[in-house]
Amino acid sequence: MTKVINVENIITKFGNTLIHDDLSFSIHKGEIFGILGGSGAGKSTLLRQLIMLQKFQSGNIEVLGESLRGISHKSAHKLRQKWAVLFQFGALYSSLTVLENICLPLLEYTELPKGLIENMAMTKLSMVGLSSESAYLYPSELSGGMKKRVGLARALALDPELLFLDEPTSGLDPSSAEAFDKLIVELRDMLGFSVIIVTHDLDTIKSALDRFIVLQNKKICFDGNYETAINSDLTFLKEFLKAN
Ligand SMILES: Nc1ncnc2c1ncn2[C@@H]1O[C@H](COP(=O)(O)OP(=O)(O)O)[C@@H](O)[C@H]1O
Ligand SMILES: [Mg+2]
Repeated sequence: MTKVINVENIITKFGNTLIHDDLSFSIHKGEIFGILGGSGAGKSTLLRQLIMLQKFQSGNIEVLGESLRGISHKSAHKLRQKWAVLFQFGALYSSLTVLENICLPLLEYTELPKGLIENMAMTKLSMVGLSSESAYLYPSELSGGMKKRVGLARALALDPELLFLDEPTSGLDPSSAEAFDKLIVELRDMLGFSVIIVTHDLDTIKSALDRFIVLQNKKICFDGNYETAINSDLTFLKEFLKAN
């Protein structure tokens, strides 16, 4: 199996506070991979490290075969174009329409003619299950679930190999959250990208993740799938999966 991400012996500190104590794991091509753990466990920090927004004190991370330690500006720039990120409050620009929001990365990173860019953006819009009429709405006219879908369409604009999501279903009602999880799985099946999700949503964990790690006490206390997790003898893990 091809590894798209390999994390080796990561140690993270903020000042004197140790956040990650020797984390190692890898993510395979096409996987929907979860990063789980209690509040403050260091999930978002880890995600930010994978996308070069946060330093680590020792160890190394390889993304799509590139080592992040000592990466050149040129390689970093190239690598950033191979992934997309949807943050928890993945803000859309409120003064731009849905279509204009989705066009942004294409305008910024390609030299394609405007008409073609708009066609590509419309394709992404339909991929996330939104009608072409919604292209001309403004973010304030959208429901929470629709906003997330537009954020996703924008994230997919440049056909990423990796998709990073931090708590994507938080703030959604259960049925919109379920629909969003389904959409992620469908898009992965169709497009073949790998997905890395920070989540504590039990429905997401059950229905969307192929595999996950759980952070506890600064370490990885579990690496496996849901089936293995509920049958494990780790009391903490069973409680965690019940409580969430
Ligand atoms: N930039 C920062 N400077 C100092 N401390 C931070 C910073 N970012 C996060 N932390 C601390 O690191 C810990 C892990 O944070 P975070 O990764 O956001 O946790 P999670 O996403 O699992 O809730 C928390 O105690 C948080 O307060
Ligand atoms: Mg977080």
